[in-house]
Amino acid sequence: MQNSTNMAPKIVLISGCSSGIGLATAVFLAKDAEKRFKVYATMRNLAKKGQLEEEGKEYLGDTLIIKQMDVCSDESVEKAVKEVLDTEGRIDVLFNNAGIGGVFTVLECTPMALAKELFAVNYFGTLRLIQAVLPGMKARRSGHIINNSSHLGIVGTPFNELYCSSKFAMEGLTESLAPTLLHFNIRCTIIEPGPVATAGFENGAIFAKKFNISVADQKSQELLETFAARIQPLFVSTMQSPYEVAEVVKNIILCEKPHLRYQINDKYNPEEVKQNLLTQQATFWLKWSRKHSSMQNNLTKITISSPEPARFDQR
Ligand SMILES: NC(=O)c1ccc[n+]([C@@H]2O[C@H](COP(=O)([O-])OP(=O)(O)OC[C@H]3O[C@@H](n4cnc5c(N)ncnc54)[C@H](OP(=O)(O)O)[C@@H]3O)[C@@H](O)[C@H]2O)c1
Repeated sequence: MQNSTNMAPKIVLISGCSSGIGLATAVFLAKDAEKRFKVYATMRNLAKKGQLEEEGKEYLGDTLIIKQMDVCSDESVEKAVKEVLDTEGRIDVLFNNAGIGGVFTVLECTPMALAKELFAVNYFGTLRLIQAVLPGMKARRSGHIINNSSHLGIVGTPFNELYCSSKFAMEGLTESLAPTLLHFNIRCTIIEPGPVATAGFENGAIFAKKFNISVADQKSQELLETFAARIQPLFVSTMQSPYEVAEVVKNIILCEKPHLRYQINDKYNPEEVKQNLLTQQATFWLKWSRKHSSMQNNLTKITISSPEPARFDQR
């Protein structure tokens, strides 16, 4: 495949492309006018490929290839990675995107099996894919691993303990791995989107319905209900399109020396988060916690904990 810069296109493997950020990123990279990318867009259930095929129809078979990959299955990941390596000889960029999000619940109502299911996708799925691509990247002394975390990967949020902790784990994994991989000329990047308009919230709500919140104590149920009602307008007012996230991912891939972390929502970047936490969010969390005074101390603590800026810079 030729591109206008006469350089070989970057081979990009993306997980979770049936919808949302994964789908948008796959299409956005595949339609690059200079053909700088060849995208292997994967999804666990190929019956859901219709939307990607429709949005990417001009690029199918050229800069956009669709493949099955379930990040929770060793066999499926090994097969998909092998097929790309057999065809292309390399994977230049891995975008770990697949995830379960938006899971608001009362913690003690979470059956352990569902907690494990969430971590199986958000954390162990990421780990599995990194393990699968690393030998090739290390051998070639080249590669870029981009992990889709969240602003909730650096700021804990009430009633979202499972999702937040899965993304905190992803952050720890990436930050720990990055210095070693620099010795192999492999870059690691974590993106931390704010709210993005995808089916993720709906899918998370469907997942959360598996929990039986009615067995929680009355007070926790009320707090959750109040919290959900109050956080929704904040999410809606700061929401980005998945294509905005895709554009940032493209720029990160093209960046010669990318940072370790990128906050990618102007309304939710670190300064804004700090400001929001101390003003807007704090106001509603504090107002809310005053109303439910027994939780005030805990919520205040959560409210004023600001995210750290990039702790490790790869430049
Ligand atoms: N939306 C937001 O506000 C937001 C903010 C920050 C970060 N994020 C992160 O962005 C990523 C994408 O989420 P989204 O918002 O685009 O939601 P989405 O539209 O629900 O996309 C999630 C994708 O992950 C896939 N997936 C789930 N389990 C999988 C598995 N075992 N193997 C392979 N794929 C699997 C889903 O496939 P199925 O269709 O088969 O379920 C879907 O393609 C997630 O990691 C999420 O945490 C989202």
